[in-house]
Amino acid sequence: MSWIGGKKALRDTILPMFPLYYERYIEVFGGGGWILFAKPPGNDFEVYNDFNGLLVNLYRCVRDKPRELMEKLQYVLNSREDFELVRDSLARDSPASDVQKAAWFYQLIRFSYASSLDSFGSQPHDMRANFPLIEQAHRRLAKVVVENKDFEKLIRQYDRPVSFFYCDPPYHATESYYKNVGEAGFTEEDHVRLRDLLLGIQGKFLLSYNDDEFIRELYDAPEIQILSTTRINNIKQRYDPNSQFAELLIGNYDLGERARCEPSQMTLFDYGQKTENDYTEDAL
Ligand SMILES: C[S@@+](CC[C@H](N)C(=O)[O-])C[C@H]1O[C@@H](n2cnc3c(N)ncnc32)[C@H](O)[C@@H]1O
Repeated sequence: MSWIGGKKALRDTILPMFPLYYERYIEVFGGGGWILFAKPPGNDFEVYNDFNGLLVNLYRCVRDKPRELMEKLQYVLNSREDFELVRDSLARDSPASDVQKAAWFYQLIRFSYASSLDSFGSQPHDMRANFPLIEQAHRRLAKVVVENKDFEKLIRQYDRPVSFFYCDPPYHATESYYKNVGEAGFTEEDHVRLRDLLLGIQGKFLLSYNDDEFIRELYDAPEIQILSTTRINNIKQRYDPNSQFAELLIGNYDLGERARCEPSQMTLFDYGQKTENDYTEDAL
């Protein structure tokens, strides 16, 4: 589903940069889960994490109670009045059930303007058209551990030599876009805290960021690879169809190892292709 900072446009760039070998896949800043949902499931142990408790509650309900969730969503109204009622109930932390809160939060994502969660989109939207996606996501998440932790706790908990962390933190200078992630939100100190942690882990990490001088300097360290790439700039695309957004991919291993691999080995993983696991493909 659509999520601020979602990596829909970068999936096919990021997946071929995964290391060739790992046993634990940990998506630290899960958000809409675009990379996890595009990643073919294998024998690896998979973890989805986000610090936003409402988002994590939604994914846990998708995984464990999809029927109840769809029942609640069945008769929701696409109206401004309903939208504002739901938004205010969630902000008050009303004592509703986990499924009710998940349905409300999903309603906010689907009916808000550009998935901002706070202003009503005033767009036609058939909620039931999402049900096949919810069912597919439910199947994909069946064996995925869903965590709701600050990144530092999570990385320390799951770090092993065979762990691979994909990290997609709030971009530098857009931190305030994200809500429900602690009192202070994500701060400049958090970017530094993440760097200090990642440079000392036993496992591997791949990090995606906006191309920014502060971030380049932060990761200017021995054994760290920094690659630049671009994607279509969704915001400016309306008036400039060729507008690109510069991104960085940063890792502590050889980011080209999978791409250089034998073609036969590539087909084993087939990361560049769209697969039936590409669940959220039509969600935007
Ligand atoms: C750029 S978005 C991730 C987008 C995701 N990769 C996708 O494709 O949809 C960053 C995410 O980090 C989460 N976040 C913010 N602060 C966090 C923290 N301290 N620990 C873990 N997650 C955090 C936000 O809730 C947000 O969902």
